Amino acid sequence: MVSTETNPSPPPADNAPKFDIELEDVYKTLGQLKVLQGVSFQVRHGETFVMMGLSGTGKSVTLRHIVGLMQPDQGCVKVFGEDLSQLDEKTLKQIRLKIGYLFQSGALINWMTIRENIALPLYEHRPQLKEKEVQERVMEKLRLVNMTQAAEKYPSEISGGMKKRAALARSIILDPEIILYDEPTSGLDPIMGATIDDLVNDTRDALGVSQIVVTHDIGSAYRIADRIGLLFEGEIIALGTPDDIRNHSDPIVKQFVNGESEGPITEILEEKKRAAQNGAPKA
Ligand SMILES: Nc1ncnc2c1ncn2[C@@H]1O[C@H](COP(=O)(O)OP(=O)(O)OP(=O)(O)O)[C@@H](O)[C@H]1O
Ligand SMILES: [Mg+2]
Repeated sequence: MVSTETNPSPPPADNAPKFDIELEDVYKTLGQLKVLQGVSFQVRHGETFVMMGLSGTGKSVTLRHIVGLMQPDQGCVKVFGEDLSQLDEKTLKQIRLKIGYLFQSGALINWMTIRENIALPLYEHRPQLKEKEVQERVMEKLRLVNMTQAAEKYPSEISGGMKKRAALARSIILDPEIILYDEPTSGLDPIMGATIDDLVNDTRDALGVSQIVVTHDIGSAYRIADRIGLLFEGEIIALGTPDDIRNHSDPIVKQFVNGESEGPITEILEEKKRAAQNGAPKA
């Protein structure tokens, strides 16, 4: 951020919003399914962007594009201003190391303790660290997610919610500049969910990281989001602040936000089901 006191007339480029993540008209078909059909949004530096949408709409697929695990059929994904499709493997790897990714599945290694799981990225990517420093960093992150008591346990010995928190500690162990959380509060009790929400907010405030959080929990979205994007039928159909989304006039957005069982979304889905039963190609 340029201080206006020391530089009263900064060049316009410095005033332009800085985007850490940009998706421009991204299309992706997987098998027969057109999953993303023109997804566009940007994440500003230091903001928490919440992505919501029905199950199976492509939220996880979208996150995978941002770390370069999937490439768009059409359109462009930029991270820190770099078009990922133009980068060589080495540069892509460097960018990936600046991104913490909490996978929806957690993906802990079963034959390692929680402490070893969390230390692993440090051994791999910070070989210069002394063992004592590695352990200090691991304990710092375990404290953050309230998991110090489970450090010596194996993943099979802890609950689903604890696995989630351990995976979260691992995804932030390299102090990333971008954090992608794929459903960080699913399967957690409401108190622990709220603790994770606080953690997401604290991480943004303390470290100034840019974050995308995928969640089905609208309450959580309102607590953590600077902006919310709603993915539906392969596109972001609504994007705005929590207030914008809460007061949105579109009936589709309203049904989603209010979690109503009947409405335009149900009708669209039923129509698709009927079309599929009649042998029409999947849209
Ligand atoms: N590697 C893949 N190959 C084929 N199809 C895939 C692949 N990954 C995802 N899909 C399909 O793409 C669609 C979107 O999947 P995705 O996992 O992104 O959904 P989601 O929005 O994250 O859902 P949920 O809220 O249930 O996690 C689904 O129909 C899924 O089956
Ligand atoms: Mg998902």
